[in-house]
Amino acid sequence: MATTPAVKTRFTTEDDITAEVLRRFERTPDPRLREIMLSLTKHIHSFVKDVRLNEGEWWKAIEFLTATGQMCSDKRQEFILLSDTMGVSMLVDLISNGKPPGATESTVFGPFYREGGPELPEGGNVAEGAEGGTPTIVYGRVLDMRGHPIAGAALDVWQADPDGLYDSLRPELEDLHMRGIFHSDADGRYVIRTTRPVHYQIPTDGPVGQMLAATKRHPWRPAHIHFKVTAEGYLPLTTHLFDDVDEYLDSDAVFGVKDSLICNFPLHETRDEDALKFGIDPPFCTAKYDFVLARA
Ligand code: BEZ
Ligand code: FE
Repeated sequence: MATTPAVKTRFTTEDDITAEVLRRFERTPDPRLREIMLSLTKHIHSFVKDVRLNEGEWWKAIEFLTATGQMCSDKRQEFILLSDTMGVSMLVDLISNGKPPGATESTVFGPFYREGGPELPEGGNVAEGAEGGTPTIVYGRVLDMRGHPIAGAALDVWQADPDGLYDSLRPELEDLHMRGIFHSDADGRYVIRTTRPVHYQIPTDGPVGQMLAATKRHPWRPAHIHFKVTAEGYLPLTTHLFDDVDEYLDSDAVFGVKDSLICNFPLHETRDEDALKFGIDPPFCTAKYDFVLARA
C-alpha cells in the first residue's frame, strides 16, 4: 500500500517568517546577544510590515547603507553621523552615561575628536593662528559632587574654527588645530583661551546629507565647545558647552542640547576687571562653567 508522504510545513505567511526567524535565534548561547537579536528581529519585521516596505524601497535602503559604509574613512565616520542624526547616539548616551543629580551631564561625542591635542598651560590659546572670531576666555573649576576641587583633572578641548570647520575638514591643514589639553590647578581652576564658538553644518556631502535634504531637515549644530574631562577616581565626562544665544539650540541636527550645558558668553567691550585678570584686550567674551564629576 502506498504511504502518504509527511506534509512539511513551509513558512509562507508574513507572521510565519517572523516566528521562524525568532525560533532560530532562540538558542543563542550569550543571553545579551539573544535578547538583542530577538528584539531586533521583532522590531525590524514589525517595521517592514507596518510601512508595507516594497522591493524598490528595500533596494534603495540597501544602496543607502552601502553608500554610508563607502563614505567612511579614517577621517570620516558616516555611520556615526547617521546614528547622530537619527537620535540614536543621544539615546545610547542617556542610557549609558546617566549621571547622579548634580554631576555635569554628558552629550554626544561626535566624529571630530582627535587624539594628541597639544598640552597647554593655564590660559593657553586653542585658537592660535585662527583668523576672525571673538577672543573668548572659558574658565571655571572642576569639582567633585560635594563641591570640593579636583586638582590635576585633564580637560581635552576641541572646537570648530571661526569659519565653522574642524581641522580634519580642511585638506590644506596637516596639523591639529582648535584643540588643546588643559589641567586644573590645586583649587580645581582652569582657564582656556579660544574664540567664541559659531554654529556650523554637519557634513552634508554624503548619504546623511541626502537624507536630511529629502526630509527637509536642516544640518546645523548650535555653537558649542567640546570637552572630555577626566580625573583619577572619577567617571570620565564627554560633553559640550553651548552658547545661550544660538538660534539652533532648539533644533540641533543631532539632538545634543541639554539645558544644564547652556552657558552665557557675555561680551566685554572695555578694559574691565576680567580684561586685567585674564590679560586680554577688549572686545572679548567670557564663559564661566564649573564641571562636576561623579566618583567612579
Ligand atoms: C560635533 O559636534 O562635532 C558633531 C556631533 C555629531 C555629529 C556631527 C558633528
Ligand atoms: Fe562639534
